[in-house]
Amino acid sequence: MQTITLPRPDDWHLHLRDGAMLRAVLPESARHFARAIIMPNLVPPVVTLDDAQAYHQQIMAALPQGMDFEPLMTLYLTESTDPTDVERAAASGLVKAVKLYPAGATTNSHGGVRDLNMVMPVLETMARIGLPLCTHGEVTTPEVDIFDREAVFIDTVLDPLRRSLPELRVVMEHITTEEGVAYAAEGSDTLAATITTHHLIINRNHILAGGIKPHYYCLPVAKREKHRLALRRAATSGSPRYFLGTDSAPHVDALKEHACGCAGCFTATNTMSLLAHVFEEEGALDRLEGFASRHGPTFYGLPVNERTLTLEKRTEPCIWPEKIQADPGPVTVFNPGFPVHWHVVT
Ligand code: DOR
Ligand code: ZN
Repeated sequence: MQTITLPRPDDWHLHLRDGAMLRAVLPESARHFARAIIMPNLVPPVVTLDDAQAYHQQIMAALPQGMDFEPLMTLYLTESTDPTDVERAAASGLVKAVKLYPAGATTNSHGGVRDLNMVMPVLETMARIGLPLCTHGEVTTPEVDIFDREAVFIDTVLDPLRRSLPELRVVMEHITTEEGVAYAAEGSDTLAATITTHHLIINRNHILAGGIKPHYYCLPVAKREKHRLALRRAATSGSPRYFLGTDSAPHVDALKEHACGCAGCFTATNTMSLLAHVFEEEGALDRLEGFASRHGPTFYGLPVNERTLTLEKRTEPCIWPEKIQADPGPVTVFNPGFPVHWHVVT
């Protein structure tokens, strides 16, 4: 029997939603993770410090007794975001980042940013005070192929932005391409990238070959195999530039299995077991700790968790619920399509 013990991991990109969905999915993250960067794309979005405080309270009220979990709040950047409010939000200690959604890029992003010039005063404030910008790194131009949107974002939006504001701390969220991996590698200490669990496991064939699999559809969409392999090399490289952000994103089955299905994979339940499997396959189990527990806190300037998480490799495979039963409807748990033997034991 093999066992590994890590400092308690954190999830540096998580969708918890609100209301009944929040109550259903929060325990799935709080069971294994000490903290998570909470995405602000609610309806309506979390735009101001007041919104973030109210959402934080709602999350804490939904946390089951006996569970310990710290939500790290973010603000949803809009073209009318007030730099003073952002500065107050950072000073409050509650808000750890601002999220840039190019308008129209993904779920509830229509209130996002169309013209980066409109938010330069906010970004300049963030650069001055060291508050990170989390980017959904895809252009939304209809002419740009959906499989190229990340690479084009890097060239036409991210790189010019970083050249004009080199002090701005940026997290390239959920990178999915070798271009994303390479750009993060070349950057300075002000740049990092998160990688999801599912992008280490699926490529676009998993979504599209042999019938369409709506539960593998997320944004940015999984790319071809060479990109998945580049992500695996990056995640298991030991480089502090890369850390875990699951992007676990619950949608009820009725909206995933739909003529116009929602984007999102729900991986909160089984991420740590899946990651142990992936890192073992890559001969890098000793590097899981950096990816899941150390590189994120280092980038965000937070302490590594004192509590631990232990995984044990057993002969019998893990059994997870196929679905989480939320009041609004069932949410399908990400199915990797292969047996996984790494059980989270404590
Ligand atoms: O797959 C995704 N789901 N990607 C996103 O960027 C948003 C997320 C969601 O909120 O459902
Ligand atoms: Zn997301």
